[in-house]
Amino acid sequence: MIIHSSDTAETEKAGAELAKKLKPRDFVALYGDLGAGKTAFVRGAASVLCPGAAVCSPTYAIMNRYDGNTAVYHFDLYRITDGDDLYSTGYYDIIEENAVFFCEWCEKCPEAIPDGAIKVRISREGDGRRIEIADTFS
Ligand SMILES: Nc1ncnc2c1ncn2[C@@H]1O[C@H](COP(=O)(O)OP(=O)(O)OP(=O)(O)O)[C@@H](O)[C@H]1O
Ligand SMILES: [Mg+2]
Repeated sequence: MIIHSSDTAETEKAGAELAKKLKPRDFVALYGDLGAGKTAFVRGAASVLCPGAAVCSPTYAIMNRYDGNTAVYHFDLYRITDGDDLYSTGYYDIIEENAVFFCEWCEKCPEAIPDGAIKVRISREGDGRRIEIADTFS
């Protein structure tokens, strides 16, 4: 599915629409450059799953957790330089939990993305964004 977003609110709405279909154990892998809108998309999704959660990029923290109707983990792999770093954060145990997962910068650590992840790629398109949601990308 491809969505064209002309502003931040539309990207948040795309995240919220996807979130309505998610269930615990789903893993949403996000791809796209700095400032593409990955966090905006997660913010929209969290507004459905964890209303009122303050969503920000966990670039330094690596992981944020939001509590709501469904627990949500929000990862950002931007600063992960090798798989061992990620292992030591407890990531592989956490992704077995009964929660919904969003992970930014999946291109940094492709081996960490579970089979069956829902993939979301956000790219710039003029002044707006192109949001591609798929089971797999080629
Ligand atoms: N159509 C759009 N969708 C999303 N964000 C947009 C759009 N148009 C402009 N923006 C702006 O682009 C920026 C997107 O920021 P955001 O933090 O969501 O990106 P990101 O992909 O998470 O970046 P990072 O890689 O640094 O984590 C915001 O400043 C937002 O206002
Ligand atoms: Mg971000």
